[in-house]
Amino acid sequence: MSSQQRLIRPAKNIYGSLRLPGDKSISHRYGMLAAFAAGTSRFTNFSTGADCASTLACMSQLGAQVKKLDDGAIEVTGIGGQVSQPSSPLDCGNSGSTMRMMSGLLAAQPCEFTLIGDASLSRRPMERIRKPLEQMGARISLTEGHAPLTVHGGTLSPIDYTVPVPSAQVKTCILLAGLQTPGETTVREAIRTRDHSELALRAFGAEVSRTAGSVTIRGPQTLSAITARVPGDISSAAFFLAAASLFPGSSLVLDSLGLNPTRAALLDVLTHFGAQVKVLNLEEKHSELVGMVQISSPAQGLGSTSISGAVAAQLIDELPVLAAIAPYSSGGIRIRDAKELRVKESDRIALVVKNLRAMGAEVTEYEDGMDVPGGQTLHGATIDSGHDHRIAMAFAVAALRATSDTIIDGSEAAAISFPEFFDLLDFLAER
Ligand code: S3P
Repeated sequence: MSSQQRLIRPAKNIYGSLRLPGDKSISHRYGMLAAFAAGTSRFTNFSTGADCASTLACMSQLGAQVKKLDDGAIEVTGIGGQVSQPSSPLDCGNSGSTMRMMSGLLAAQPCEFTLIGDASLSRRPMERIRKPLEQMGARISLTEGHAPLTVHGGTLSPIDYTVPVPSAQVKTCILLAGLQTPGETTVREAIRTRDHSELALRAFGAEVSRTAGSVTIRGPQTLSAITARVPGDISSAAFFLAAASLFPGSSLVLDSLGLNPTRAALLDVLTHFGAQVKVLNLEEKHSELVGMVQISSPAQGLGSTSISGAVAAQLIDELPVLAAIAPYSSGGIRIRDAKELRVKESDRIALVVKNLRAMGAEVTEYEDGMDVPGGQTLHGATIDSGHDHRIAMAFAVAALRATSDTIIDGSEAAAISFPEFFDLLDFLAER
């Protein structure tokens, strides 16, 4: 086996208690805002994923100072709102969040910035940020709708913008431009997407107002440094929660997990699917909810569930693993309104379908989702991760209940969001 392959043996059970590394979405935002703010911020439990390292590296190129302390904490000394012109392109790696959110931050700066990414990021749609930023007065050059992307920044005018596709990255992009723009910038969304940016902007001292369907920021405002512990990543937790749901008799406790209501739909879906989920010790830190989650699976196993509409958008990152465990349930899963999955780090609908079929599962593909019947027996297979972290991890979970060994090809992709994943899976899996 090559160093990019990982063997996953079937397991009997999932058992244990863990604290997970910091949430990727929150780490991006804390890192970016701290780098832009005045003063020195300090974060513990910052995401260990390569994506958040891309954000920090780009912000360093723009003048921020980032230090990793001996105790694992991260210290970021910000630029007080004035970026320096970087001497080379800003490399966003695999990270759509970095590219889309940073474009908004840079659009209000009187310089020119080129943002590049890896092959996957260079295929992802960027038109969705060009439109609002150009309405505000910036100029964004794209290469056939994709990166490489050049931001020609300057003084902007506020806008009132309705986001056509639910996207927290696009919302954040506009808010970060609005933060520096005189007047009121409003973003409207039909489906409420994750609100970490709104909460983080407030934590760094900005005023942000909200209604059920809109967020408004009045610029210009300055940001001040904070000290924070990043809550555990619920999207990383999803893989272990799904794994625990597969085995009657398993028991898993995840402590200090981020439970922001715009991210926690997974817990309701798993409950509806048949898992027994308990939330304990809820606390609020910088307006983010944090708590302990306990999950176990009933003797009869999972039932059936259907995901569509707003929930599909809110659960978008967790859909691959939910689909990957569905064959082992009694009634399967129906997923619709999830077309955005096709423009993530990979075409996640196509890859989930391909890999489920490789394991012997029956599955029907739709443009915006899939049907995975329950009551199936899967065998081990060689899985094509498509260099997508969530596909690699989702199929490592599916492999736990297969009748034979599985090889995850491109398993190194897990390090994009969760470098510790395979070691922790080994620690939790009883064989
Ligand atoms: C993210 C938003 C989502 C999600 C991504 C992280 C964020 O993307 O899929 O993994 O941190 O804002 P979209 O904003 O494109 O929906």
